[in-house]
Amino acid sequence: MTARRIQALREAIEHHNYRYYVLDDPEISDAEYDRLFRELQQLEQEHPELVTPDSPTQRVGGAPRAEFASVRHATPMLSLNNCFSDGELRDFDRRIRETLGVEAVDYVAEPKLDGLAVSLVYERGRLIRAATRGDGSEGEDITANIRTLRAVPLKLRGSGWPALLDVRGEVYMSKAGFARMNAEAAARGEKTFVNPRNAAAGSLRQLDPRITAQRPLSFYAYASGALPRSAQPQTHWELLQRFRDWGLPVCAQIERVRGLEGCLRYYAKLERQRPQLPFEIDGVVYKLDRLDWREELGSVARAPRWAVAHKFPAQEVETRLLDVEFQVGRTGTLTPVARLEPVFVGGVTVSNATLHNMDEIARLGVKIGDTVIVRRAGDVIPEIVKVVESRRPRDARAIQLPKQCPVCGSTVVQIEGEVAARCSAGLTCRAQLHGALMHFVSRRAMDIEGLGDKLLAQLIDTGLVKSPADIYALRAEQLAGLERMAEKSAANVIEAIERSKATTLERFLYALGIRDVGETTARDLARHFRSLEALIEAARADLPTVHAAKDKDRCPRLRAVPDIGPVVAAHVAQFFTEPHNLAVIRALHKAGVHWPEVTQAAGAGPLAGKTFVLTGTLPSMSRDEAQSRIEAAGGKVSGSVSKKTDYVVAGESPGSKLAKAEKLGVAVIDEAGLLRLLGRTA
Ligand code: IVH
Repeated sequence: MTARRIQALREAIEHHNYRYYVLDDPEISDAEYDRLFRELQQLEQEHPELVTPDSPTQRVGGAPRAEFASVRHATPMLSLNNCFSDGELRDFDRRIRETLGVEAVDYVAEPKLDGLAVSLVYERGRLIRAATRGDGSEGEDITANIRTLRAVPLKLRGSGWPALLDVRGEVYMSKAGFARMNAEAAARGEKTFVNPRNAAAGSLRQLDPRITAQRPLSFYAYASGALPRSAQPQTHWELLQRFRDWGLPVCAQIERVRGLEGCLRYYAKLERQRPQLPFEIDGVVYKLDRLDWREELGSVARAPRWAVAHKFPAQEVETRLLDVEFQVGRTGTLTPVARLEPVFVGGVTVSNATLHNMDEIARLGVKIGDTVIVRRAGDVIPEIVKVVESRRPRDARAIQLPKQCPVCGSTVVQIEGEVAARCSAGLTCRAQLHGALMHFVSRRAMDIEGLGDKLLAQLIDTGLVKSPADIYALRAEQLAGLERMAEKSAANVIEAIERSKATTLERFLYALGIRDVGETTARDLARHFRSLEALIEAARADLPTVHAAKDKDRCPRLRAVPDIGPVVAAHVAQFFTEPHNLAVIRALHKAGVHWPEVTQAAGAGPLAGKTFVLTGTLPSMSRDEAQSRIEAAGGKVSGSVSKKTDYVVAGESPGSKLAKAEKLGVAVIDEAGLLRLLGRTA
């Protein structure tokens, strides 16, 4: 009897959630809903043996976590390219039609919600995992927090969903919820959030799901991970319809539109509605409706060719420039930062803006005391667009580049032909040392976990660390003596330092923080020279040519590396001939930093010169993994099939790329075939 009543209550509550969140058409009042909910809670309390994990009462559960586990997305979570004008949108539409060879296409136009992308994994209709986007390949497990959102069904409705469904969508906070939450926080004397997006992010990042449960978060679904062929609809529009049937909320403002004209009409309409919408948006997303066409178009880097975000124009306001301060970055560059009279623009209060460099200040003709126009677009750093000269006060002061570094007092130099002014002190300047160390320990460099901003600042201030090499001489007792450092965490940091000693040449080169040497250049250098000694040797040989009059005479040995131009080559040559840098490198070596021999020279390897296209799900490798293994073997991975493609690697439920390969007579192989080419049998 009780079991039946419990079941009936659960179904009723799920039904009303669906009416409220998905159909936006509730049948009962909030008070009635609460009554049902309390009755269920009461019965479950009396009969704990009847409680199930997907009961609506079980949204908040479990103890606070120590940290979030990391989760690998089965299909990467892509981001979107932006366009800022009708012209750019026209180009986007034209490229699509030309690639497909069709006259006109349908798009689905959606509000670009200003929240956070998440992935919700349903197994046999039950929510088993929720994760943040993270870097697109790997995010954080926020299942316990997501379960507290009533808009997210714990169980899917209806039928027809695949055994494994990866729903992608946005967690956001309504404007009203945000205002209420901030008012309550202010009344309690707590810190308030700058905008709904940050509030949503902060709420999801709580280690204690009970806190998340109190935050007014909501969710809209707008995409899915890979679907098995049997569950694949023909269009995005149909997918969204299925989402609704399955109880997943889909934004009501989404429309299907025809061609460029339809997109532009939708954009104008949404821009008009924007102030009245209950949530913040920063533009429109257009997505090609036909899913088989999407396959054909593929993706470049981390963004699909079949979708684009059309951003609303940046918002602009007037304020006053109170002062300019100069910040010193990790390569010593002095960046002028404007201190502004705080103004509210684009949903946040702005009190600082970057002025980039002295050239920019000259271009703007700005002086301290001026009234200026400040622009802020999306997540972009606020900028000063222009000066209102008519309102310049008499005592307006010119902005001057300091002659001494504001941090260490050393001479500031301006290198000929360069815009940037730099502190000349190198790592003896505290600001440069701090920036260089932050970069050195960062995840994609030496990856020393636990050695954060504040701890590094203390290590610098106490004189324990004067160069990256000093990190490897640290002992646990020294760390434990610092502020907010328990013995356990000190031991963890020492362990992370120890672990980081085993690295790769490309990470090491990237970690050194050479100007203009990002991850890609570091990898190119590592593959080309294959040893640090060979690289240093080339740098030494090239140094005399760094200032050669003609570009083509500069740094011939370094420029033999594909994609390295004269400027980067000059920086590399200078870096590896500077005695201080060589001393740091030697010290790191002596401390035990090491890497395996680089066996793969660029352009060599079993797959050199071969182009691959991946389609469908491979049995044992993720797409990312397949791509990096092909690249590591010297091959290239492209997003679309053409006559130049050497192999199409097809997995389960391949898309139209397979058909295209067959049409063009391109070789099609499976994972086992790929592994054989890679020189390993499956
Ligand atoms: S689709 C393959 N649709 O924008 C495209 N994203 O720049 C995957 N976003 O990380 C995203 N509203 O946080 C999509 N209607 C919408 C969106 C949307 C907001 C965000 C999302 C994503 C970012 C991409």
